[in-house]
Amino acid sequence: MMHRYLCSLASVTGRLIFAITIATIGSFQFGYNTGVINAPEAIIRDFLNYTLEERLEDLPSDVLLTSLWSLSVAIFSIGGMIGSFSVGLFVNRFGRRNSMLIVNLLAIAGGCLMGFCKIAESVEMLILGRLVIGLFCGLCTGFVPMYIGEISPTALRGAFGTLNQLGIVIGILVAQIFGLEFILGSDDLWPLLLGFTIIPAILQSIALPFCPESPRFLLINRKEEENAKKTLQQLWGTLDVTQDILEMKEESARMSQEKPVTILELFRAPNYQQPLLISIVLQLSQQFSGINAVFYYSTGIFSDAGVEEPIYATIGAGVVNTIFTVVSVFLVERAGRRTLHLIGLGGMAFCSVLMTMSLLLKDDYDWMKFVCILAILVFVAFFEIGPGPIPWFIVAELFSQGPRPAAVAVAGCSNWTSNFLYYLGPYVFIIFTVFLISFLIFTFFKVPETRGRTFEDITRAFEGQVQEANRSGKTSAVEMNSIQPVKQSTANV
Ligand SMILES: *[C@@H]1O[C@H](CO)[C@@H](O)[C@H](O)[C@H]1NC(C)=O
Repeated sequence: MMHRYLCSLASVTGRLIFAITIATIGSFQFGYNTGVINAPEAIIRDFLNYTLEERLEDLPSDVLLTSLWSLSVAIFSIGGMIGSFSVGLFVNRFGRRNSMLIVNLLAIAGGCLMGFCKIAESVEMLILGRLVIGLFCGLCTGFVPMYIGEISPTALRGAFGTLNQLGIVIGILVAQIFGLEFILGSDDLWPLLLGFTIIPAILQSIALPFCPESPRFLLINRKEEENAKKTLQQLWGTLDVTQDILEMKEESARMSQEKPVTILELFRAPNYQQPLLISIVLQLSQQFSGINAVFYYSTGIFSDAGVEEPIYATIGAGVVNTIFTVVSVFLVERAGRRTLHLIGLGGMAFCSVLMTMSLLLKDDYDWMKFVCILAILVFVAFFEIGPGPIPWFIVAELFSQGPRPAAVAVAGCSNWTSNFLYYLGPYVFIIFTVFLISFLIFTFFKVPETRGRTFEDITRAFEGQVQEANRSGKTSAVEMNSIQPVKQSTANV
């Protein structure tokens, strides 16, 4: 175990870094398209107003304008839900890498629709473009963590998995900066802001053919052992991959005894129930943590505190966001997923209480504004320590090759579905605090540590748990956690 850990440390090759970097362009796209629509709201509303006025030959009603605007925003999430649910249709048929390559066509199509909607004076093109981009982003949120999880050495799976989140937050930050009025967020240039997504899509399409297919896919799905071995050796820069090939073959042998896992079977089979529940609840813990509310409300609070251009303060929060995602990359293999998720949720719950108090007291005490600003920044920092990055990649860790695509689809879909939750007023943070504490308790009792463990090992622990439960008639997570100290001590060396 120790030997293997050291091996993996020595084996971060340029090839591996290249493949992961190119894959995270997909995460960037997701972040960019999530963030891009907020800045130019007023301008796009004007466009809707103007275009509809031309067509209707009358002033459009406020209700119609607001409905169309909301549709343009929300249809992205609807596309995302459908896209994330369709991950399984692609990854087993075309492979992980080629799936990422193919869906760039959607990014280019969506980017063109949005980029030319102003010239064409077409509201439909804007809305359709947002739908197509949503589909694309939904697929990306499945493909990227799966690909990264499958090509990374066990000891660094979490650190590289966190790079997915880094891609997302950089995407959001870039969207915020490009959305500034003097860059692309102006009356004339906003179509370029929306169409910009084409450029990363083209870059990724050029670079992906130079990235390897996932060795796990090659061996387990395609039965190309030699090819898988060669790819592994090149990726990890070590000739000795026998152990890993052996592990994959064991998984492959077990898989050939069972049929491919559909989403329905995933819900039925008792040995998937526990990891599936964990995957879904962790995704919900990300979305119901109140992070969206903070991102939307931060501009308002910063303006209260007397910041002239609150948008810059929001960008400041984006910078904190990015910095702490980087911190998390280095922490996740040291502290473990479970611990970081617990710390993240606990810290967010604390900040959430602080925020509620300061929001309620800010008229009585002037300095409460600063408490509030600080609470927001620390809240964001804690989010990126755990609940931001971990839910995305832990799904790929909790399942073996067979059920993984279906599980990633279900988890991604629950994330996209719950991201409709927006800000409702300062008291909403009391609700979020309750959520956060519930998720904290769930994580403490149900989520096993996966750091440094192979997919085989993790899956088998869940199966052992099911057998144990059948014998004793109830499920316990203590048992799963009890394996972990031994594993941790070996990986810490
Ligand atoms: C739509 O544009 C017209 C001018 O053409 C303006 O009077 C009206 O206030 C605008 N409506 C909204 C909701 O901005």
